[in-house]
Amino acid sequence: MDGGDLPASGLEPFDRMLARSASRFGTPQFLYDTRAIEARIAELRAAFGGRFALSYAVKANPNPALLGWLRERIDFLDVSSIGEFHRARNAGWAPDRASFTGPGKRDGELREAIAGGLGELILESAGEARRANAIAGALGRRQDVMIRISPDRVPKGFGDHMAGRPSPFGVDVEEIDTTLPAIAALPNLRLAGLHIYSGTQCLRAEAIVENYAIFLDIFERVCARHDLAPRRLVFGSGLGIPYHEGDAPLDLGAVAAGIVPALDALRAKPRFAETRLALELGRYLVGEAGYFLTRVVAVKRSRGRSLAICDGGMNDHLPASGHFGMVIARNYRMHVVGGAGPAEEVDISGPLCTSIDRLARGARLPPLAEDDLIAVHQSGAYGPTASPLGFISHPAPVEVLLTGDGLVGTGRVSLCVERPR
Ligand SMILES: Cc1ncc(COP(=O)(O)O)c(C=O)c1O
Repeated sequence: MDGGDLPASGLEPFDRMLARSASRFGTPQFLYDTRAIEARIAELRAAFGGRFALSYAVKANPNPALLGWLRERIDFLDVSSIGEFHRARNAGWAPDRASFTGPGKRDGELREAIAGGLGELILESAGEARRANAIAGALGRRQDVMIRISPDRVPKGFGDHMAGRPSPFGVDVEEIDTTLPAIAALPNLRLAGLHIYSGTQCLRAEAIVENYAIFLDIFERVCARHDLAPRRLVFGSGLGIPYHEGDAPLDLGAVAAGIVPALDALRAKPRFAETRLALELGRYLVGEAGYFLTRVVAVKRSRGRSLAICDGGMNDHLPASGHFGMVIARNYRMHVVGGAGPAEEVDISGPLCTSIDRLARGARLPPLAEDDLIAVHQSGAYGPTASPLGFISHPAPVEVLLTGDGLVGTGRVSLCVERPR
């Protein structure tokens, strides 16, 4: 049976939509449900009572249509390369709503971003500050900057620790009292605020609250010591999503309840009266809204195990294969679209000629047959652009956005970004 003949009408509404999208646009496919993103944005705004502006980290998902859709719904963007800056510009974002993080920004990137009207440059080192100062001077500009600070500790419970040990990211907090005045003295830079991003993918509310308390303590102490009234303070969110069976979702209400009193205490101090607090986040906004749709090409039994081989795998979705910084590979949540029948154990692999191309080991799913459609959940962030798309030259996956107007195909994933005109 060709995938286009799936009995879409007999399915639950959500599966019907997934089946339609797969037949209409093809597989492998990433589908992003904007209704889920809209709900997530509303949840975040309500939980923190508007105390945080939202800044979307483009690295999580730079799909052009998604960036365009987000433009009217969130406050800022954070880009981490000039390519992401181009994507933001092409999606209609004003450059002054973007910040630019990243430990290895090259002179050409700095020049283009500063000349292009970037909002804030996030400085990751004193050397980068000196280069940016020279470039801004040559362009006859004064560039707004924030200093990224690397705390000396990150609480337990984060998927990746970007501080608390030698780190390429930001100025060590132990050095900030000497580095900050040197940066503030550079004539072509204007110090607009401070930025901390020290940990990702945390599902424990108390660890996130503890981390934000560390940020607040650093922000307050540094601003008092150097008499700064910052325009913006950026909190790298660390908010995580439940990728695997058995993961309990983060209790956002508990995060808010734990930190709001301290945020209000900070804002009550005169030097922070005009400060805008921002949460910088990627996966928590878009991760759970995405589905990776892959079709079964072959099924077989091998030495006592059931195997299903699909048209998309690690080449499209590296994180689901367990090779994106996971210490122990665990299966992403997934289901068989329209699947019925008692669950049985199956190993699911992709089309690559390598044994590491595996989307699941021992997944419990209804019996699989050729042409069945598998939907891998939590696939809206760090999908195709975090994957080795070129390996073995399979076609790149397609991307589809589900909006209020229905399914909108946004074409095959392309890593090539046009410069904005
Ligand atoms: C500087 C910075 N901002 C934002 C993010 C987004 O993180 P997440 O998708 O976990 O929210 C990252 C992730 O590594 C980051 O390094």
